[in-house]
Amino acid sequence: MNLNLPPEINLQPGTLQFLQSGPKRLLINGEWVDALSGETFASVNPANGEELAQVALAGVEDVDMAVHAARAAFEHGPWREMSGEERGRLLWKAADLIEAYTDELAELETLDNGKPIRLSSKVDLPNTAKHFRYYAGLAGKLEGTTVPVSFPNQFVYTLREPVGVVGLIIPWNFPIQMASWKLAPALACGNTAILKPAEETPLTALRLGEILIEAGFPPGVVNIVTGPGEPTGAAITAHMGIDKVSFTGSTEVGRKIMEAAARSNLKRVSLELGGKSPNVIFADADLGKAVKGATWGIFSTAGQECVAGSRLFVERPVFQQVLEGLAGESRKVRVGAGFTPKVHVGPLISQRQLERVMGYIEGGQKSGAQLVSGGERLGGELSQGYFMSPTVFAYEDDSLQLAQEEIFGPVAAVTPFDSWDELVMRANSSRYGLAAGVWTQDITKAHRFAHAVKAGTVWINTYDLIDPAAPFGGYKESGFGREMGRDALDLYTEVKTVWVGLG
Ligand code: NAI
Ligand code: MG
Repeated sequence: MNLNLPPEINLQPGTLQFLQSGPKRLLINGEWVDALSGETFASVNPANGEELAQVALAGVEDVDMAVHAARAAFEHGPWREMSGEERGRLLWKAADLIEAYTDELAELETLDNGKPIRLSSKVDLPNTAKHFRYYAGLAGKLEGTTVPVSFPNQFVYTLREPVGVVGLIIPWNFPIQMASWKLAPALACGNTAILKPAEETPLTALRLGEILIEAGFPPGVVNIVTGPGEPTGAAITAHMGIDKVSFTGSTEVGRKIMEAAARSNLKRVSLELGGKSPNVIFADADLGKAVKGATWGIFSTAGQECVAGSRLFVERPVFQQVLEGLAGESRKVRVGAGFTPKVHVGPLISQRQLERVMGYIEGGQKSGAQLVSGGERLGGELSQGYFMSPTVFAYEDDSLQLAQEEIFGPVAAVTPFDSWDELVMRANSSRYGLAAGVWTQDITKAHRFAHAVKAGTVWINTYDLIDPAAPFGGYKESGFGREMGRDALDLYTEVKTVWVGLG
């Protein structure tokens, strides 16, 4: 295995041991097992295209075994008997262990996903632990209500019960964080889970599985199956024994998941999908801050973020200034391998994503958008990996592909606007509605925009902040359901109404 690390980097012993301990297995009923078929696939380091590990490829039968284990753990045994307070203790213990193993987990995340180690260790891992702690605190607070009904002598109350066995399917851009966004509330509510990480980035989820066992979650409560969308993900969404699927990924796959749910057992579905988020800079904004905010709003994680501020609307009087500012900032973004000191942005996740994004850049140029900076695959010592330069386009025509489709790469599409009505109409002329940003010193304008834009999250004079306490999810084709905050409890509970005749 060629990890291609700078000479001054020594990986944690635990990281090396994890990588060198042979093919990674599935977690089913508390045991690590090979796929029944014996099949494996490679997880690749996107910084150099080299294989990091072989990982078990779960087929339909493996998923079925995981579902049986999860069902048994849900219906009988210690998990069923536990109070919410006790589940909370396990989640809290998991958070402690995630913190204790942060260095190791962060290294695995950077190797598997490519993101800078500083981000893995200072952002992704702390947020992961925070999610477990937030839902640890809520596990014992799943209250129902008493309901005043129109009949006399009837006492009516509600209970919040777990949905049952939940399938959790996640993408590769925030592998361990997204595992926590789904696992922590699902477990807090008393469900049992089958987690499927993305085939590009299975490693931290598997290490997290070891940690959850160490924390004391009973066998079968958390099962982890690895493999691609077909067959592994599809086996989850079609399974009659799974009560709910929570998915984050592309809108295209989100549709397939709804179809599979409709064809099988009408399992509950929540979806966090793509975005084409408008980020708006008014002429009265603190332009220095706004340009920096817009830069990171689109280029962080190499643009591979569902909330990426990929459409930048700039009020006409400051358009040239902002465009030049953004192009200048984009040239200062240091792109490189995740372990290289002082790197801001890593590679794209795969050759396939790189080709996809380069396709959009070619298409953008052909369609008449103006390429202002970037637009290249990076060569030299980065040529083995999937690196590209931060890219800025200017455009005016909203029907361009560049203005409509989620590129999921470091590509900013910048456009001028002249009036409020035009802005609101254009910002909302997207099939997506995940997030939006607005930069202005006028508090009234800021809130008016926040109310007018169809998006699940609006950032005013800031961008791209996520917290376990703040509900997160989309309007329109960005999906439905809200993760995080107390709202996530709705995704993982059923409400039961109990009538008591007192007459
Ligand atoms: P994807 O939606 O195919 O993959 C996400 C997850 O879904 C992975 O775990 C994958 O194995 C699983 N999956 C794929 N097909 C499935 C199926 N038929 N049934 C069940 N699970 C299935 O995303 P992909 O192909 O990796 O990226 C393509 C585009 O999707 C990106 O360029 C981006 O536009 C968008 N995307 C959006 C994300 C977000 O955070 N909203 C994350 C990843 C991708
Ligand atoms: Mg796919």
